Amino acid sequence: MPLPYSEIVMEHFRNPRNVGRIEDPDAKAVEGSPSCGDMVAVYLMVDEESQRITDIKFESYGCASNIATGSIITELAKGKTIGEAKTITWKDAADALGGLPPIKTHCSVLAVDGLRAAVENYEERHGLVKEREATTVEVIKKRLKHVMNPVVGLDVVRTNLVKGIEVSDGTVRVELDLREDHQFAASMSEEIREKLEPRWDVQHVEVVFVG
Ligand code: FES
Repeated sequence: MPLPYSEIVMEHFRNPRNVGRIEDPDAKAVEGSPSCGDMVAVYLMVDEESQRITDIKFESYGCASNIATGSIITELAKGKTIGEAKTITWKDAADALGGLPPIKTHCSVLAVDGLRAAVENYEERHGLVKEREATTVEVIKKRLKHVMNPVVGLDVVRTNLVKGIEVSDGTVRVELDLREDHQFAASMSEEIREKLEPRWDVQHVEVVFVG
């Protein structure tokens, strides 16, 4: 039986707005869904003075709901301040899409999480984070749950790719059970760095391949 997608969902799926990537963005985030292995990336350009989002793009490797939600949240967020964009919920997105089948809730949550993570990335890069939680092994682990293991499409923590985490004096060392010459080694190292380096108390991130 086909899923009961609304007309609006189908329209955004067929003609998604703001698809693509921004080179050298002011902020970006990649979120993956453990339940289906799909990913969404969100890129932002922000006017520093007004803190308004002047440009926003997304790339989706997900299903129709995910693409439609990515499309609608970029529409909802464009022109808003980062503070306003952060308050956009999956319900706002689902409402704007005329509803989503309940089985597809996680797909819209994934896109909204992508937007929120991109805003947080902007806040971190610009020293705007108010609650300054110290970086611990647990904090790092939580972040790494948002880095996908591209070999199996689940996150690197859940798939035991992370063999060790050390945090000391502003240096974070992450050991990955992967060979240094693995085809995904460079991109994973970069993604991990991107996730961890913006933290306020992290000066240096070392990704070590121990596979
Ligand atoms: Fe994976 Fe929808 S099923 S994003």
